Amino acid sequence: MAAGARVVLLGPPGAGKGTQAKLLQDTFGVCQISTGDILRKAVAEKTPLGQEASQYISRGALVPDGVIVNMVAARLKEKDCESGFILDGFPRTIPQAESLDAILQREGIALNAALSVRVPNDVVIERLAGRRTCRNCGALSHRVFSPPKKTGVCDRCGGELFQRDDDREETVANRLKVYSDQTAPLLEYYRQHGLLKEIDGVGAVGDINARVLAALGGAAK
Ligand code: AP5
Repeated sequence: MAAGARVVLLGPPGAGKGTQAKLLQDTFGVCQISTGDILRKAVAEKTPLGQEASQYISRGALVPDGVIVNMVAARLKEKDCESGFILDGFPRTIPQAESLDAILQREGIALNAALSVRVPNDVVIERLAGRRTCRNCGALSHRVFSPPKKTGVCDRCGGELFQRDDDREETVANRLKVYSDQTAPLLEYYRQHGLLKEIDGVGAVGDINARVLAALGGAAK
C-alpha cells in the first residue's frame, strides 16, 4: 500500500482529517496536502493569495474553486508528491472534484480511495473549541483530549500553540452549514465512482487510525 497511495479525506470540520492525514503521511511515505494549512500560511505571510483567502476563511466560507484548484495542481507537481498523496480538505465541492479527476487523468493516474470520517456535530464542536495548533511546526493538540505537557507550548518543537480564528463558535456554525450544503454531496459523487469508504470517527486517535488503515486496506495501491 505504501507506493502510490492517492487518497482523499472527507469529513466535517474537526472530524480529525488533519490528525489522520499526518499519521497516513508517515505510514505511507507520501505527501500530505492540507489546503487549509497552505491558505493559513499564505494569510500569515500576507501574500496576494492570503489577502484574498482571509476574507473567506474568517467567515467560514469556501475560497473560490479556481484559486484552490490552481494551488493544489501546483502542489501536486512537487517532488514529495511523486509517490502519492493524502488530500486533506480538498476537494470540497463537485467542481473541485471534477478538476482533480482531470488533473490526475492528465498524469495517467487515479485516486485509490475517498475516505469519509463521520463525526456528529456535538463532537465536532467540542474538538474545535479545544484545538490548539503549533505556529511553528503545525502539530495539533487539544486542551482536553491531548493536552501539551506545558500549557501553550508544542510538545514536538517547543513552538507557540495558538487557537485558530475560525474555531470561534459562530464561525464553526457556518463551517458546518457550508460542509453540509457544498461538501457532503461529494459522498455520493465518490460512491458513484466506486471510491467511497466510510468510517466512524468517534473514539481515540489510535483506534480511528486503525479503522482508517483497515478501510483503506489494499485500496491505496
Ligand atoms: P481546513 O483547515 O481544511 O478546515 P476544516 O475542513 O474545517 O477542518 P479542520 O482543520 O477544522 O478539522 P480536521 O478535520 O482537520 O480536524 P483536526 O485533525 O484538526 O479549512 C479552513 C478554511 O480554509 C475553510 O473554512 C475554507 O475557508 C478554506 N478552505 C480550505 N480548503 C478549501 C477548499 N478545498 N476549498 C475552498 N476553501 C477551502 O482535529 C480537530 C481537533 O480535534 C484537534 O484539536 C485534534 O487534536 C482533536 N482530535 C482529532 N481527532 C481526535 C479524536 N479521535 N479524539 C479526540 N480529539 C481528536
